[in-house]
Amino acid sequence: MKFSSLVQRIGGDGADAWLIHYAALAARERGEDAIILSVGDPDLATPEAVVARAVEALHAGDTHYTPVRGRMALRTAIAEQHYRRCGQLVNPEQVVVLSGAQNALMVALLCLSETGDEVLSLDPMYPTYPATLEASGARVIRVPLNPQNGFRFDLDAMRRAITPRSRVLTFATPGNPTGLILSEEDLAGIADVAREHDLWIVADEVYAGLAPGGSVPSLARELPERVVTIGSLSKTHAMCGWRLGWMVGPRELIDHTENLVLCMLYGLPGFIQEAAVTALGIAGEAEQRAREYCDRRAALMLEHMQGIPGISALVPQAGMFMLLDVRGTGLQGRSFAEGLFQEQRVSVIPGDAFGTQTLGFVRVGFATEEALIVEACRRMRLYCEALAAKRER
Ligand SMILES: Cc1ncc(COP(=O)(O)O)c(C=O)c1O
Repeated sequence: MKFSSLVQRIGGDGADAWLIHYAALAARERGEDAIILSVGDPDLATPEAVVARAVEALHAGDTHYTPVRGRMALRTAIAEQHYRRCGQLVNPEQVVVLSGAQNALMVALLCLSETGDEVLSLDPMYPTYPATLEASGARVIRVPLNPQNGFRFDLDAMRRAITPRSRVLTFATPGNPTGLILSEEDLAGIADVAREHDLWIVADEVYAGLAPGGSVPSLARELPERVVTIGSLSKTHAMCGWRLGWMVGPRELIDHTENLVLCMLYGLPGFIQEAAVTALGIAGEAEQRAREYCDRRAALMLEHMQGIPGISALVPQAGMFMLLDVRGTGLQGRSFAEGLFQEQRVSVIPGDAFGTQTLGFVRVGFATEEALIVEACRRMRLYCEALAAKRER
């Protein structure tokens, strides 16, 4: 039987990115030894007040359809948080509630681009991006960030990637896998390019609450007519499994989005929206908890990776991931990751999952128990020492 061309676009390398991760999950389910550093899902519990509110709403019968755009109380809370973070005053009609940032990205791109268009995205990028950005029929154009410069934003590379077909610029700040935050200067360059070429800007800020001070530089206030800001509770509130995210943007876009949500999602569960209002009400303390959690683990990982032969770490500015340059071991990221899992049962994501600039890298996630981080580093050291010994022979 014949399938649509969409299945090709969503079935590429992004789906392969998770193979080692799935193997590790399956091993753990079989009761075998496996340390999973391949995902960013903190082992923190969702704040108790949030869980209690969901349970209360469920018991109260909050199990019916809800407004497609999201409940007013939640959209108001998101609008307030957006103002605190980005300095852009928006009304609740500029907010739509979606099923995680992932869903918000897909919805945004389906409303902003189509076949024949080009969507620029910084490479390295989060592995679901290529399929998400190409589902509409548009093509992803990678803006390469040079490992030699620590993957810093490169305005010239972005300008070189622009063509008459360019429609949207997308980026995550803080980034995944780099953990780097786009500076005011980087954003000023992006703003110029967007104005000159009349482009949309989709800013994925799922990790913004984990940045120092709980926010990152944003163009939302300066370019309200062309900036779409994506957020979610997944990372800041240890709520990955609740699937609660949002999009903030110009009113007209949000109206179109509502039509898409009507046929794609039909609104989110009411009890989750109620819990989300509670979550946003305690955002300050939840974010601080998440920041302290990540900072402690990043420091622990860096400490225990010291002196591992052939490895050098890119220190993240925020988030729960770190890129490791493994070229010194003589391996590329993929063979390093496969061997590490086979020999030491530690799963990491090979750099090729993030694009063309990270072939010699792997991404480790440190949103897990501290003892597991220490043990994973011990195993990585054994693995790299064995590789070094093999090379010397
Ligand atoms: C950059 C980036 N965007 C979006 C997402 C998806 O987040 P959510 O759980 O809100 O869908 C992730 C998840 O890891 C991510 O790293």
